[in-house]
Amino acid sequence: MDTFNIANRRYLGSKQQLLDFIENIVKSHTKNCHSFADIFAGSGVVANRFNKNYNLILNDNLTCNYHIYTCFFSNVAYDKDKILTLLESYNNAKNLAPNYYSKNFTNTYLSEENLKIVGFIRDNIELNLEQNIINKREHSILITSLLYAIDRIANTVGHYDSYRKNGDLEKKLNLRIPLIDNSLNANNQIYCRDANDIAKKKKADFFSLAPPYNSRQYCDAYHFLENVAKNTKPQVVGVAKKMDRSGLKSNYCLSDASVYLSELVANINAKYILLSYNNTHNKANARSNAKISDNEILEILGKKGKVRIFEKDFAPFNAGKSNITNHKERIFLCEVR
Ligand SMILES: C[S@@+](CC[C@H](N)C(=O)[O-])C[C@H]1O[C@@H](n2cnc3c(N)ncnc32)[C@H](O)[C@@H]1O
Repeated sequence: MDTFNIANRRYLGSKQQLLDFIENIVKSHTKNCHSFADIFAGSGVVANRFNKNYNLILNDNLTCNYHIYTCFFSNVAYDKDKILTLLESYNNAKNLAPNYYSKNFTNTYLSEENLKIVGFIRDNIELNLEQNIINKREHSILITSLLYAIDRIANTVGHYDSYRKNGDLEKKLNLRIPLIDNSLNANNQIYCRDANDIAKKKKADFFSLAPPYNSRQYCDAYHFLENVAKNTKPQVVGVAKKMDRSGLKSNYCLSDASVYLSELVANINAKYILLSYNNTHNKANARSNAKISDNEILEILGKKGKVRIFEKDFAPFNAGKSNITNHKERIFLCEVR
């Protein structure tokens, strides 16, 4: 069966291209750290880079990401043969009845045929959990395989704010098996909460912060994956067929984002805090404009300890609507007093 790893996914703001840069900063400027909290973990690629040498705390407020972290980073045992058998049966599913997904999303992100398969698989995963045929880890592994399969063929530019009008809907959904290394996961913890709440309750030597930096909400960009992950079948509206996302909106996309960052940083119990943010404050168009200025970041982190800034030219994967030149990703490293 085909395989995939955690990085085989398109994700807005992913630090995949910056992993060496981030790792070098951490190696050169920190010491005596054994635990690493990535509390806006997004695609999970940063935490993945540090899993070998640190005990992880992973968090994101989206359920789709929670399942992905549970798939790759949980320490709960799973039966690989059982997963393979189920994935093979899902890849052979045919002649399926219409369902919530085919009724609501046909010819948007996927074809009717693929949506019938998505609905069948998603319900079957839930049924298997209810009947104790699979455990919660296996449940998340199967959902992750489905999410990555959808993302691979979805008729989008990598997010679900819209779909291509004359795009290719012909590709068939193909579930693959994730490449998991359970030997690295012994002491990892995984959450799906507000980052400010985690900062109040959890302690780690190292906190990595990568909040959204502009007004684009991740729950808007990934509503379809979130809908499949939860499988509660809500009503959807508009051309992009979005469900109600009011409980998922991030404060970091608002004009007073600095207030939330300030509260978050004040509550962190760590030796080091690493904040990655970009330099588009007052530079880009209104939606792409970074919400927190350098001065605000320096003031907030400066209250906690000594701050260094590292900068790298970086053309991020974005929504395709902004035209930002001289884009730099900055890492602010604070050594807590
Ligand atoms: C810039 S992305 C993180 C990128 C990540 N470092 C990577 O490499 O993929 C920001 C993430 O924070 C999550 N998020 C936004 N607001 C949040 C909040 N208040 N609490 C927890 N997660 C939040 C979003 O869902 C998104 O996945």
